[in-house]
Parts: sequence; C-alpha cells; structure tokens
Amino acid sequence: MDCLISRFGDHVGEPVTVRGWTHNVRSSGSIAFLQLRDGSGFTQAVVSKEKVDEASWLAATSATIESSVVIMGTVSAHPKKEEVYELQATAVELLQRAEEYPIGKKEHGPDFLLDNRHLWLRAPSQWAIQRIRDTIIHATYDWMRDHDFVKIDAPIFTPNACEGTTELFEVDYFEDRKAYLTQSGQLYLEAAIASVGRCFDFGPVFRAEKSKTRRHLIEFWMMDAEAAFVDHAGNMDIQEQLISFIVGQVLTRRRTELQILERDVKPLENVSPPFYRITHAEAVAKLNELGSDIGEMDDLGADDETLLTRQFDKPLFIEKYPAAVKAFYMKRDTSDPTRVLNSDLLAPEGYGEIIGGSQREDDYDALVARVREHNLPEHAFQWYLDLRRYGSVPHSGFGYGLERIVAWICGLPHVRETIPFPRLLNRLEP
Ligand code: 4AD
Ligand code: MG
Repeated sequence: MDCLISRFGDHVGEPVTVRGWTHNVRSSGSIAFLQLRDGSGFTQAVVSKEKVDEASWLAATSATIESSVVIMGTVSAHPKKEEVYELQATAVELLQRAEEYPIGKKEHGPDFLLDNRHLWLRAPSQWAIQRIRDTIIHATYDWMRDHDFVKIDAPIFTPNACEGTTELFEVDYFEDRKAYLTQSGQLYLEAAIASVGRCFDFGPVFRAEKSKTRRHLIEFWMMDAEAAFVDHAGNMDIQEQLISFIVGQVLTRRRTELQILERDVKPLENVSPPFYRITHAEAVAKLNELGSDIGEMDDLGADDETLLTRQFDKPLFIEKYPAAVKAFYMKRDTSDPTRVLNSDLLAPEGYGEIIGGSQREDDYDALVARVREHNLPEHAFQWYLDLRRYGSVPHSGFGYGLERIVAWICGLPHVRETIPFPRLLNRLEP
C-alpha cells in the first residue's frame, strides 16, 4: 500500500510502498542507507543486501543524490528517537538515476542558489518555508471566512494607480491603450464593500521599485482586506487578531518545519493581542533617542524600522503618519489635519513593516481635493469618486505582504527565499 512518510506513525510494523527521491545515500559493506523524501516528510530507508534481491541491491547502491525511487519495506520505530521511523526495505526500484547533483556538495552563495532555484526548492529548508507559507495562506482564508469577509477577486490589469505612479508597470493593452499591473486591489475592494460589507482579495501585485533590499520583491502576494463601518481603531483590532491567529496556526501545525529552520519560537509564542500602538510622533522621538536622525515629518526608513522593532517583543502599530508621506486615499485626523488615520504594523525582532492600512477618505469633496493634490488623472478615478456619491460610509482596510510575514515567521534575513520563484530587480529567471 502506498504510504506518505508523514503517515508512518500509523503504520508501524506494516508493509508499505514509498515513492520519492533519495536526498542522500551512503552504503557500507552489505548495508545501504537511503535518505528519502517524498514531499510529505523525510525518512531513512535501510537496505540490507541479504534481505533484498540482486536487482534491488544494485538499485540501492547505484542511487545518487536526487534519484527518483520506489521503495517497498516495513515501517519500524527508531530504536532511540521518539516519533522517528525508518523503512526496512524489502525492494528498491530506481525510476531515474540522477546526474551529479549541482547543489549540496559545498556551501553555495545566494546567486548560485537562486540560479538553481528550480532545484534548490527541494532542500529541507526550502521545503519547510513553502509549507509554512501554505499554512499562513490557509490560516488567512480561515480567519477571514470565520469573520464574515467575502473573497472578492480584484483585477490585475488596471487603468490607474493605487499606490503612487512612480512604481507602476506599464503594459500595452491593445491598439493604443496602456494598462498598469495592479499594485494592490484596495480601490476595487472599496467598491465591493457596498455590496458585501466586508471583503478581501489575495493575489500577486507588482511594484516597479528600483529597490534592492532584503524586504523588496518586484512581484509579491498581497492580501487586502476592507470593511464598511469600521474605523481606524477597529481596523487595527482586526489586524492584530488575524496576525495572532496566523502565528498560532503555524506554531501548532508546523513545528517540524520551524525546527528545520532553527527558528526560536519564543518570540512567536508571545504574539497575541493587544499589540503595541504608538503614534508616528512617539516613534520619531524614540528613534531620535536611539540615535536616528529621522525628522518630525519624515517617513520611517527601513533602518529606522529595524532599530525600533528590536526594542519590542511583539508586533507594533505605528499610527498617524504625516499626510505628506502617505497615500491620497487616507482619511485625515480631525484633531491634527497634517496627519492621517493610518497604521503600519511592524513585526518585532528587527523585521519592520508587514501591513499597511488606514481609514479611507469617505467625503467626496475632500477626496477630489486629494486626487488633485497628488496630481492623479481625475477621469481615471471617477468610478472611485462615485463610491462617495452613492451611500458613502466610514470604512477602513489594510494590505499585508505575504512574503514579509513568511520571512518574519520563518526567521529569514531576506524575502527572496519566501516565494517559490522570486522576481527581483536583477532577476527574472528561472
Ligand atoms: O503598504 P502598502 O504599499 O499598502 C498598500 O498597497 C495598500 N493599498 C494596502 C491596503 O490598504 N489594502 O503595501 C502593503 C504591504 C506592505 O505592508 C508590505 O508588507 C508589502 O505589502 N509590500 C511589499 N512586499 C514585498 N516587496 C515589496 N516591494 C513590497 N511593497 C509592499
Ligand atoms: Mg506601506
């Protein structure tokens, strides 16, 4: 019977068939050890020359790193380690004997590994990262559905910008029309809330940012959420519950993967509401104390975020940024109109921004003024302005960057490993 390695615990003593790859092989005398992986997990197959036929022995001893194999055998519990099982082989079949594998013989630099991303994905660390990413995605869908958010799919081709015009990817959209690849589905979700109340999207977004940092990708996955009748403070409540749920799910379901990544789970276990909330003004004061030269009305740079979040043991909201450094759609703070009702959620341990969100400008005249101040093409925003003409309501939303969250939860220094095939300033392949 075919059996996934991850299910070995239920089949101790039983004969099973495993289909997978040999990620390492060694033999000594009349015994061969095949390190096996099948996608669900890792195990060791023990092949004894006396217990298998000649063809199986030949297959076992000629298997190379990353050969594909089918192995039949009996599941046995590891003599010393709990919840570790082995396969006592009774037959070995080599499906394809791999050529000499380019990865793994020595330490490799990031460029070599990224050039070989199509193979590197098989490494245990990369396997662990993708499985944690998958858990984060599922946890997000679960939490959103359980809190009455409806999935709304925003378009990828758009006629206008959402997050500023300097980072737009322009494409030809037949004849002489230009279109832009979406930077965020937010504006479309603002239309959809008047239909379904609360909604979210989840998909790839594109930023033609000429940044080569450990936090920037050209193509990344964003989850935007939007809710009618939710104000700035309520918006932060939603975010801290969602993020706490996601981290909890990873801690419960992905212990093995966190161990493979040698992630210290203590800081993750600390992630529960309420998160810290400080204003931009307070953040600037604190940063100045810590030695940053950030000005009163400046946006936080990546270094500022790193410096600041090293001081906190759980995620931190920074709210009420200067209007001048933030997007046109953010609602002004009535108690200080130079600032907006926004929040950036910063992950601790030096990670920095993982979510950007705000209450939205819901007044028609104020929004028209903002569109003009930002020199945005008014005609392209007519439909968006319409939303303030027909049953406008207070509403808020946010967008999370999946790869930034994966990097933080996995404890990775760079986002490039968090997405299966990263698109970077200098990389489009493989
Ligand atoms: O802060 P941003 O630009 O916000 C928006 O796009 C809003 N429209 C979202 C909304 O309110 N619905 O982007 C949201 C998040 C950031 O907090 C960050 O985590 C991630 O997207 N992000 C990036 N991740 C990887 N590479 C990049 N170049 C990123 N730019 C933003
Ligand atoms: Mg942002």
